[in-house]
Amino acid sequence: MRLNASRRRLLRYLAASPIVAGVPVLAQTSRLPDPMIWAPRELGELIESPSRALSVFDFEPVARQKLSPAHFGYLATGNDDEATLRANREGFAAFQLRPRRLVDVSRIDMKMELFGATWDSPIVIAPTGSNKAFHADGEIAVAKAARAGRHLQMLSTVATTSIEDAIEARGAPLWFQLYPTNEWRVGLAMAKRAEKAGAPAIVVTVDVLAAQNWEMLQRMIRGDKAANCGSCHGMGLRSFVQRKPHFDGLDLAGVSSSGATNLTWDFVKRLRDTVGTKILLKGILAREDAKLAIEHGVDGIIVSNHGGRSEDNGRSTIDVLPEILVAVDGRIPILVDSGFRRGTDIVKALAMGAKAVCIGRPYLWGLGAFGQEGVERVLQLLRRELFAAMQQMGAPSLKDLVPAMVARA
Ligand SMILES: Cc1cc2nc3c(=O)[nH]c(=O)nc-3n(C[C@H](O)[C@H](O)[C@H](O)COP(=O)(O)O)c2cc1C
Repeated sequence: MRLNASRRRLLRYLAASPIVAGVPVLAQTSRLPDPMIWAPRELGELIESPSRALSVFDFEPVARQKLSPAHFGYLATGNDDEATLRANREGFAAFQLRPRRLVDVSRIDMKMELFGATWDSPIVIAPTGSNKAFHADGEIAVAKAARAGRHLQMLSTVATTSIEDAIEARGAPLWFQLYPTNEWRVGLAMAKRAEKAGAPAIVVTVDVLAAQNWEMLQRMIRGDKAANCGSCHGMGLRSFVQRKPHFDGLDLAGVSSSGATNLTWDFVKRLRDTVGTKILLKGILAREDAKLAIEHGVDGIIVSNHGGRSEDNGRSTIDVLPEILVAVDGRIPILVDSGFRRGTDIVKALAMGAKAVCIGRPYLWGLGAFGQEGVERVLQLLRRELFAAMQQMGAPSLKDLVPAMVARA
């Protein structure tokens, strides 16, 4: 109880801090031309095999070199000025770690238990679309890498591999991420299919509303002289989903896009009443919505700004996290993603009270650079860094990571 009280006190303090309240950061006004702002500088010295990588950042320039500019642009892009994309990284600098000493950390247990299942670590594979744009093996390579490291994986609605095939490659249930579309029956059919395939949880992504302004992607497509985009994707929804197996056999009459502008809490209630899986909402960024989620019977929340790819709101998720944790007050698990690249980033979120951290682009860099082996190495590096960070923090298990270990910079 004392731990909970101190957690609440710290989170309240963090949530009330003027930094959280949105003091503008310099970076929000200055645009860096290089999308790889965090990558190694020596672009002439790229790693030639996954084992040479020192950190996840080593994979990004290799992926850039190997992928077509258009596909790399899809991977890297944020929305508008990409202030949110940068804020996601810079946000971590606003928090510092307060390690404890003289604790026996000769054994570290990173096991994460959630909804009755256990994984070897709290590092989760975030859902990303069209993985075959990065490697011919696509989501299958990712699932096999997830299997090797025993990670929880979420599969996208717009994956280029079906939930059935991905579950087979993973050798364990995956969670299914749902873009419900604007037609209830289409979203429901996909959710039911995932449930039947064995997905124990449906993650409804609620932050894709407007047509995204992915300017970096558009510029890279323009600069891609060899791009023959029309051979894979033509115009319109039907062409977009032709390589997305979750849309196979569905009547798409009335469907305007995979996102949904008509999504409301009614949808959540209806889904809650119709499927037997756990339901999580991905993309919640305000305490008001976190409370509504609980009122609507949601089982978990993923604090996410879609890796800076939805509205360019300028706020990092590590800044948002304390606000959501206070609102939810331990009633349902909170996961978080966007910008996590280091073991110390992960430790900060876990110490604040997040249950797990989801990773997006880094595993796609690994996939684009070296296929399954690249994804495996990215995940291994993250596990290794988290392990080391827990040792340094004096936290032999996840429950030993407590709010007092995080301070405002
Ligand atoms: C190429 C790409 C495709 C994505 N596709 C989806 C998707 O289909 N569904 C979804 O909910 N989120 C999608 N996301 C967002 C991720 O799930 C996650 O929120 C984000 O990548 C986390 O930020 P990070 O890339 O900085 O780690 C995508 C992200 C990327 C980079």
